[in-house]
Amino acid sequence: MSAPVRVALLGCGTVGGQVVRLLHEHGDDLAARIGAPVELAGIAVRRPQRDRDLPVDDALFTTDAAGLVSRVDVDVVIEVIGGIEPARSLMLSALSRGVSVVTANKALLAEDGATLYDAAAAGGADLYFEAAVAGAIPIIRPLRESLTGDRVHRVLGIVNGTTNFILSRMDETGAGFAESLEEATALGYAEADPTADVEGFDAAAKAAILAGLAFHTRVRAADVHREGITDVTAADVASAQRMGCVVKLLAIAERTQDGRGVAVRVHPAMIPRTHPLASVGDAFNAVFVEAEAAGRLMFYGRGAGGAPTASAVLGDLVAVARNRVTGARGTGESSYADLQVVSMGQTRTRYHVSLEVADKAGVLADVANAFARHDVSIRTVRQEGHGDDATLVCVTHEATDAALSATVEELRGLDAVRAVASVMRVEGETA
Ligand code: NDP
Ligand code: HSE
Repeated sequence: MSAPVRVALLGCGTVGGQVVRLLHEHGDDLAARIGAPVELAGIAVRRPQRDRDLPVDDALFTTDAAGLVSRVDVDVVIEVIGGIEPARSLMLSALSRGVSVVTANKALLAEDGATLYDAAAAGGADLYFEAAVAGAIPIIRPLRESLTGDRVHRVLGIVNGTTNFILSRMDETGAGFAESLEEATALGYAEADPTADVEGFDAAAKAAILAGLAFHTRVRAADVHREGITDVTAADVASAQRMGCVVKLLAIAERTQDGRGVAVRVHPAMIPRTHPLASVGDAFNAVFVEAEAAGRLMFYGRGAGGAPTASAVLGDLVAVARNRVTGARGTGESSYADLQVVSMGQTRTRYHVSLEVADKAGVLADVANAFARHDVSIRTVRQEGHGDDATLVCVTHEATDAALSATVEELRGLDAVRAVASVMRVEGETA
């Protein structure tokens, strides 16, 4: 056994508390796997007096996170405070002195991951963040290491548990968004302020991280086209059902057709029930990767929660601690491809458009002409109802998002169209 690896834990909430518990329960196994025992050097929190019911000496708690990080007896920092500051300054302080960092902080990585990577490279330290995307699911290491010999074409994920729970309930019960959000809140899936989840900010941060790794390109949250699920209606979900589809909030990162760009987006979309992501229910996450040689891969599991997320944190801790013991360094940033991140307007998608129309001669022709004027090809048209209660449901072939949204704008202005009842993107091969 080598000398102990001393860990500074920053944050002891939902995730940090479970890190402490698992370190205590599995300390001997972790030591055997690392080749050195792990010792907690200190735990930084905001409220040291808070009752945490954890198997740890109270004397380890401190409010002086900066002081803890700069101690010379600290070998590894685990950051599970979250947010931008003080997390960024604390991690930079550690990395610049060669102290490796394990973090679950998707918000910071998506906003300013480049600064962290640069500090890690300059300090000769590791920066690991398996827990930052999809909780317990191993997806960062597969993209960063296992698939690095392949060429990834597309990453398609359900990476937010709260919204997946809400959309799953809407699909199962026919309820609307507000009612399903209420249920998610009552069951503890949604936070008191659910904005980051339901407006897609959380998924956009994760999409940026996945895109950066898959396409060897720096991608920030601000580069990601983001739409949340607050406008998804029970009618959209019912319409998806009639098409043999289900509505999911998808995070999609894909190489452009010419191979020189990458498009990254988060929005609700209809996917066929036969698609592997369609069966991901409840608050589970899954990430689907399409690579040239590997083909299609799917990673599935719990995307949140104290223990599942702590599992990913401890996996990273073992990796960086092993590196410290053996004098090695883990994988650093790979952004050599430097692909252009293209705008949503240039991204190619398909639309499902539901129109309330009058059931009379010439309406279909007017609607078809509007699509044609924007060079958007219609794949299927279905009429539901008749008389004053007719609905035309059009599903398009792939076109640029700019052409599709211009078509919808024109449809809104047609005399033949009483209302555009719903517009939603479609992913995957539908019937
Ligand atoms: P919590 O809010 O439960 O815990 C945050 C912890 O940080 C608390 O212990 C808090 O102290 C401490 N803290 C807050 N501000 C400071 C500060 N200025 N100095 C020192 N300590 C501070 O967050 P979570 O555990 O849920 O999340 C932690 C990270 O993990 C975030 O980046 C989050 O995005 C990520 N994550 C979380 C998941 C989850 O399911 N919860 C899933 C995947 C990732 P005190 O206890 O005294 O209030
Ligand atoms: N709030 C997130 C979710 C968990 O609902 O999936 C942390 O990433």
